[in-house]
Amino acid sequence: MTVSESVDPRALRAVCSHFVTGVTVITSGSGAIAAGTTVNSFTSVSLDPPLVLFCLHRQSRLGPVLAGCGMFVVNFLTAHQQRLAWAFAGRGNLTVQEVAQRHSAGGVPIIGESVAFLACRVANEVDGGDHVIVIGEVTELGIAGHGRDPLIFFRGAMGALEDGPPPTYPIIDG
Ligand SMILES: Cc1cc2nc3c(=O)[nH]c(=O)nc-3n(C[C@H](O)[C@H](O)[C@H](O)COP(=O)(O)O)c2cc1C
Repeated sequence: MTVSESVDPRALRAVCSHFVTGVTVITSGSGAIAAGTTVNSFTSVSLDPPLVLFCLHRQSRLGPVLAGCGMFVVNFLTAHQQRLAWAFAGRGNLTVQEVAQRHSAGGVPIIGESVAFLACRVANEVDGGDHVIVIGEVTELGIAGHGRDPLIFFRGAMGALEDGPPPTYPIIDG
């Protein structure tokens, strides 16, 4: 294992790509100005109050939409939504309007066929270097499809869980 003192951004990205994550599309805005960006930096933060976060690149086209709207939806993608995930990462043409199935109470598009969604209002924004850490308070939530296989991101590639999802156990505490 190599330990370097000055951290090369490409090396940092390569190392972090060995941490397996799910894949989400963050949608924001409504009507003609709705937009979406593929994000794997989603994390749940707090149950009480109900807070989640994601990190958004400062140059992202979603930034101004989010600033104007103050709300967003986290859409957890299924293994079948890989094309959609790449499209909202800038590698393909798809509009939010084409994939929206319904809308949150605040009018933000919710992507159809996803595993689950969280609708949030922006509660805080924290400096995160070349990204902004966006903290949202959850206002609506839903599991769209029990048993749907999630989309996984690992070492720069997307795919399905090889052995299927683990069995579901009730969460008793935390
Ligand atoms: C699997 C995956 C995860 C990504 N995660 C993030 C992320 O957490 N935050 C972010 O700002 N961009 C992330 N991106 C990049 C954005 O999807 C997008 O390519 C970039 O922000 C530029 O497009 P935009 O201007 O539409 O946002 C990710 C891309 C991929 C493929």
